Amino acid sequence: MKAGIYFVCLCVLSNIIVVSAILDVIVGAVAYITDRLFQKDDLLEPFDYERLKTDLKDSLYGQHIASEVVLKAVSGFMTDKHPSKPLVLSFHGSTGVGKNHVSNIIARNIFTKGENSEHVHVFISEHHFPLKEQVETYKFQLKQWIRGNVSSFPRSMFIFDVMDKMNPGLIDAIKPFLDHYSHVDGVSYREAIFIFLSNAGESVIEKVVLDSWRDGEKREQLQMNSRDMETKIFKDVFNANSSGFWHSTLIDAHLIDHFIPFLPLEYRHVRQCVLAEMAALNITANDGFVDRVAQNLPYFPPEEKILSVKGCKTVKQKLLVHI
Ligand SMILES: Nc1ncnc2c1ncn2[C@@H]1O[C@H](COP(=O)(O)OP(=O)(O)OP(=O)(O)O)[C@@H](O)[C@H]1O
Ligand SMILES: *[C@@H]1O[C@H](CO)[C@@H](O)[C@H](O)[C@H]1NC(C)=O
Ligand SMILES: *[C@@H]1O[C@H](CO)[C@@H](O)[C@H](O)[C@H]1NC(C)=O
Ligand SMILES: *[C@@H]1O[C@H](CO)[C@@H](O)[C@H](O)[C@H]1NC(C)=O
Ligand SMILES: [Mg+2]
Repeated sequence: MKAGIYFVCLCVLSNIIVVSAILDVIVGAVAYITDRLFQKDDLLEPFDYERLKTDLKDSLYGQHIASEVVLKAVSGFMTDKHPSKPLVLSFHGSTGVGKNHVSNIIARNIFTKGENSEHVHVFISEHHFPLKEQVETYKFQLKQWIRGNVSSFPRSMFIFDVMDKMNPGLIDAIKPFLDHYSHVDGVSYREAIFIFLSNAGESVIEKVVLDSWRDGEKREQLQMNSRDMETKIFKDVFNANSSGFWHSTLIDAHLIDHFIPFLPLEYRHVRQCVLAEMAALNITANDGFVDRVAQNLPYFPPEEKILSVKGCKTVKQKLLVHI
């Protein structure tokens, strides 16, 4: 009788062991497959200078300054085996001129999955940090997020969109991460990339472009420091009182490597955007069609009408209603 009970117990026990062993194998297999599917192809691209150069040349229109500075800054940083600090760029310009577009170009030249990589983090001020009263909580959260992500993956990329709408002071919380420290609490941030996007400085850039046009200069002659553009942007951004950079210590301490101006686009660039959208949508049409779409967008100043008010934004929508 007793032996019988022992026998039953033994059978149950060994069954449990067998079942749990099988479960283990299944769990392992599932983890392996999800790893393969969702993680293992989220890789770094081997950095290729020529590839980035071609990509910028083919898919970015009318931004010769941004194109040149981004190419030099990104390739210098990506090929540096011992960077002394993370790469920190700030893009400035009016709406629809390619600021998000360029951050996506950078992302796809670094990560196989490009902007969809889980190592590319986009923070949208109004969405992630909406409340003024919560600034202290956001500071803590932001530091935790960046620290967590960089410690598990040093080559992480952080994009701060709409810096103009960020509460002043919040961004200063990440100052130690952007500085020349080899480690902050055991984590090194030197391989990370930070990009700030804003409209701040747009009036400075617009004025420089219009003045230079009225003086009969070629757009392509404009340089980063033409007519003191970089210094003026810098001041404008620092003094934009309701914006994320207002009196920011990041600017004071010179932790932003480049303030990159994005110029307002001309008619010919808008035309290029129309052609690119047509190619993406497999639409073929004649030049007249392309002109009709490009002419459907507003241009300024009122007399000369040479610069696009919305850049290439809404080109796709205009295109779709013209088909
Ligand atoms: N210079 C450009 N070259 C090629 N395409 C462009 C350019 N500028 C804008 N585009 C196109 O227009 C779309 C909108 O541009 P993007 O989102 O980069 O504007 P933005 O500068 O971030 O504007 P905003 O300040 O409104 O956020 C992009 O997806 C891209 O397709
Ligand atoms: C990484 O950043 C995201 C926000 O983009 C955040 O939700 C996540 O918790 C962070 N990961 C870690 C480990 O902190
Ligand atoms: C920003 O500056 C302007 C004048 O320079 C002032 O009228 C305004 O109140 C300031 N706003 C804030 C939020 O400090
Ligand atoms: C455009 O055409 C190509 C091949 O001709 C096809 O692979 C692609 O899916 C098409 N794209 C769209 C948006 O229809
Ligand atoms: Mg944008």
